[in-house]
Amino acid sequence: MVKRVQIETAVFPVAGRGTRFLPATKASPKEMLPVVDKPLIQYAVEEALAAGARRLVFVTGSSKRAIEDHFDSDQELEKLLESQGKSDLLKQLRSVLPSYATCIYIRQPAPLGLGHAVLCARPAVGNEPFFVHLADDLIDAEVPCLKQMAAVHRTKGGSVIGCETVPHSDTDKYGIVEVAGRAGPVQLMRSIVEKPKPSAAPSNLAVVGRYLLTPAIFDHLEHIGHGAGGEIQLTDGIASLMKEESVYAYRFNGVRYDCGNKLGYLEANVAFGLAHPQLGDAFKAHLIRLAATLAPKKSARTQGRPRKM
Ligand code: G1P
Repeated sequence: MVKRVQIETAVFPVAGRGTRFLPATKASPKEMLPVVDKPLIQYAVEEALAAGARRLVFVTGSSKRAIEDHFDSDQELEKLLESQGKSDLLKQLRSVLPSYATCIYIRQPAPLGLGHAVLCARPAVGNEPFFVHLADDLIDAEVPCLKQMAAVHRTKGGSVIGCETVPHSDTDKYGIVEVAGRAGPVQLMRSIVEKPKPSAAPSNLAVVGRYLLTPAIFDHLEHIGHGAGGEIQLTDGIASLMKEESVYAYRFNGVRYDCGNKLGYLEANVAFGLAHPQLGDAFKAHLIRLAATLAPKKSARTQGRPRKM
């Protein structure tokens, strides 16, 4: 049966320590790394709000206070900006979180994996479908990715998992899925496995950090036990859920930047810098100048000069 419900809740697992970005993430959460002028977690929240979410559940760990502070109001700073007449900055600051949104913070007591983090959110989610968003995966899309997935859920029901094809050599970095057909962006999932070696992978269709899950996932997460890396894997929970309900793989429209690694993070800054309404043109001009200095110089041979013997 197709249920036409609005997805009210988004879960943001933000307990991971971000060791790949040390020392930048020693005292500051990786989700607070800025892409141009906004932290990753703010892009995540904006995407969830655009998809209709109102209740934002952050599953946090140690050293994550900055995330709470970011979404809290800062009276002192607001007064300062007001007294300095900086109304634009004040407006930006106040629009970090709209008044209709509620933030809930739940502590993950131990780093037991993504599945465990999602399970920690159960009391705040209740018995309705919900989003899970991994802020590391920044997706640039005309229609926000979670909104696209909510539309799939409205027509198909069930759970919807954001996917994209990756190089075969990279299957051991992702949850990898096998689907029933080949054509079209929405496919019924047949199997899912966490980080298989390329030689054992059922395909190169990878899960990105976007999930729309029915609440049935919680009972499965409670029973699956520890999987790859000794952690409670969301992937294993989904594999178990598939035996009971439909789970769809959805190839979203948009470009994903893996901000969990340094190169992907730099690429995201370039793409979002170029698209920035105030900085874009000047940044583009800079890149063009830079590219000219980086272009390989024409060799004496190609310039037609005789070579030194
Ligand atoms: C997690 C999931 C994995 C998924 C990936 C997407 O892995 O376990 O299935 O493909 O996110 O980014 P992580 O990157 O946290 O190791």
